[in-house]
Amino acid sequence: MDTVGHRMKPFVTIVLVICIYLPGSDSIGMYGKSVRFPAKTANSFVRLHAPDFPSLTAFTVCFRAASEETHPYSLFSYATSISDNELLIWQESKTELWLEFHDQDTKFDLPEMNALLRHICVTWESQEGEITVWVNGRRSVRKFGGKGRVVKGPGAFILGQEQDSVGGGFDINQSFAGEISDVHMWDHVLQPNDIKTVSQGCLRYGGNIIDWGSTHYTFQGIVAIGGNKDCPL
Ligand SMILES: *[C@@H]1O[C@H](CO)[C@@H](O)[C@H](O)[C@H]1NC(C)=O
Repeated sequence: MDTVGHRMKPFVTIVLVICIYLPGSDSIGMYGKSVRFPAKTANSFVRLHAPDFPSLTAFTVCFRAASEETHPYSLFSYATSISDNELLIWQESKTELWLEFHDQDTKFDLPEMNALLRHICVTWESQEGEITVWVNGRRSVRKFGGKGRVVKGPGAFILGQEQDSVGGGFDINQSFAGEISDVHMWDHVLQPNDIKTVSQGCLRYGGNIIDWGSTHYTFQGIVAIGGNKDCPL
């Protein structure tokens, strides 16, 4: 216990220095910043306050992430009052990424997650029910799911935890430890060239649903929000 306490102390100091805003306060945008969760917890998260939308018939979700966790975790959790897994990007193992929505999992076998930041995009559209994952601008095999369905709003977007209710119902064993940044979400499928461009840099103006540079966010718990040297201001 004592050892853990001492180990945590320097970290807590860092959090206080880096985080200009108090937990729970509403802050605008994280352009040039990344979010670090140093360990799995039951209550640390960042909530992205995207504007409400009635429903989506397509989306692109992109972010940069790195994690050395070996246990499953949520990378991106969107819950509504009707469905707590309305849209979930889930790392089941070091090599298996799942897109879960409408209680359907589409699984992708990918290069192993590790300490190197990688750029991940997931695209889906309802008409054909086509799901694709992009890693560092390279496309996966196309898979099929959610044909004719919609992603409903309003709901809550959470990084760091998996929601079993809107904005809550967290489980330490489903939480994320690592670093995540440049989260963007669009209401359409980006063109391959756009995904490649997005994967190479940091967007000052990005997603029309979630825009890392301007979407309001709140956070709680042990979260370090700090400079991301990948994006010089
Ligand atoms: C998390 O996993 C550990 C190890 O498997 C287990 O002992 C613990 O009970 C789990 N915690 C919860 C909240 O499920």
